[in-house]
Order: sequence, then C-alpha cells, then structure tokens
Amino acid sequence: MTADIIDGKAFAAQVRERVGRQVAVLKAESKLTPGLAVVLVGEDPASKVYVRNKGKSTAEAGMKSEEIRLEASATQEEVLEVVTRLNEDPSIHGILVQLPLPKQVDEMAVLDAIDPAKDVDGFHVINTGRQAVGLPAMVPCTPLGCIMMLKDKLGELSGLNAVVVGRSNIVGKPMASLLLAESCTVTIAHSRTKDLPSVCRNADILVAAVGRPEMIRGDWVKPGATVIDVGINRIEKDDGKTKLVGDVCFSEAVEIAGAITPVPGGVGPMTIACLLANTVTAACRQAG
Ligand code: GUN
Repeated sequence: MTADIIDGKAFAAQVRERVGRQVAVLKAESKLTPGLAVVLVGEDPASKVYVRNKGKSTAEAGMKSEEIRLEASATQEEVLEVVTRLNEDPSIHGILVQLPLPKQVDEMAVLDAIDPAKDVDGFHVINTGRQAVGLPAMVPCTPLGCIMMLKDKLGELSGLNAVVVGRSNIVGKPMASLLLAESCTVTIAHSRTKDLPSVCRNADILVAAVGRPEMIRGDWVKPGATVIDVGINRIEKDDGKTKLVGDVCFSEAVEIAGAITPVPGGVGPMTIACLLANTVTAACRQAG
C-alpha cells in the first residue's frame, strides 16, 4: 500500500479562495482593504522568487501589496527605518521582512522592531510567547499550514506521537509548540539527537524541517504515519539538471507512510496561503 499524497497546492487554493471572499466582504462592508508589505534586502535568488510570489498572491486575493527593496549593502538603521515607517502606515496591516538578512543586519533586532500586531510572520517574541501560553497570537505561516493539513487529514491530533526533526525558530520550535497545543506528545529531534532513525520510527506524525536533502529514509517512518516534509532543497541530478527535493526520501517513504506531503506541491503553497490568512486576521484585529 502506498501513502495518500496530501495535495498542498489544492488545499492552498481553497484557503486563498476563502481569504479572497473575506477580503471582498471587508472592502464592501467595512471599507477595509488589508495591506501587506514585504521587505527584501539584497539579491538572494530564492528570496526574490518567494517575494515575487507573495506580492502576486496578495494582489490576487484583492489586498494591497507593497514591496520594498533595499540594496544588499543596506545598514541596520536603513532596514529599521523602513520597518518604523511601515509600523506607522495605517494602510499596512502586515509586515514581512524576508529572511535571511545580509550579515551586517541584526535579524533579531529587525524582527523585534516590527509591531507585534503587524507581525504576520509570527516571529516576534511577543507572538512566540503569546502562542506558547495559549493567548491569541500571530502564528508562523509554515507551521500553521502544516497543522491545517494534519487536521484535514487526521481530524483530531490529541494523544498522537509527533516528532519534529529540526529546531529552527522559523519552523521547528513553533511547529512543536503548535503540536503541543493540539495535545500531541511532542519530541523535537535535531543534529545532536541520539539514534534519530529510532526516534522517528516512534512518530505517528513526522515533521521534517532540517534543510538536508532526502535525509529521512523510508525505514525511519512508522508504517501508516503521516509525514509532513517542510524541506525545499535544490539538488543536481545525474544528467546535470536540477530538481527540488524535500528532507524526506519521498520514493522510499511513500511506500511506508499512511499519508505524505510531496515536494514541491505540499507545504510550500500552504505557507503563502497562511500568510494571506494572517494578513486578514491582522487587519481585522487592528480595525477593531
Ligand atoms: N525565509 C524563509 N522562510 C521565511 C518565512 O517564512 N518568513 C520570512 N520572513 N522569511 C523567510
């Protein structure tokens, strides 16, 4: 038996349609157009693609989209000035500073400067803390998208063993915190974890967010488990062309898992859909 393939692209399209309808209602009934600003510093090719896609999706959902580009040589003060201006702009309800930032810019200081109410990435410590203690918060888009797919597939998550491989601030830690809020028994595994394969084999829900191509093999997966692959890695094939692969060896894991997200077309599209949803949430909360 091969696993069900979780179609993140189709699910994301549904979320985006719903967001589009909410935006139409806000515009018609409350004269409120949600606005998202994305700040890109430098020329990182992958970041440029992400930022372009975010801008396009924002406009497609009927929202205001502003893109601010700064040179790779921008100083921390220049980035902070942009954030301050956006914090004060009433037509902007969500601010996203694309990471990574050039090394002369202190990432933590920039994230800390974003108004927590406009922090649609959910990376501000105020939002991290609020989420951890169960208060309303802006929740990071990628983990939120993963939870939505898991609930759609499994229904109730309570009591399931969840293993998150990776402990980044962007995915691993918030993912673990959201799974805990769903009453999963959560393990965070990482590069120092002893006997990672056997830890993974204990997972009813296995979330891979390590950034290492195809590291998680088929025999690390518990039969019937739900596997969420957050990795997006570009690798070179034997013929010299490149392809995108996840952190999970899909061809092996698909034979063992109960359900699995593909790469591409799994978690990636859900991240942008959740960003749009977060922007609408932020706009509603700011409006009143
Ligand atoms: N870089 C890679 N993923 C993300 C994300 O979710 N948000 C931001 N701001 N930067 C990123």
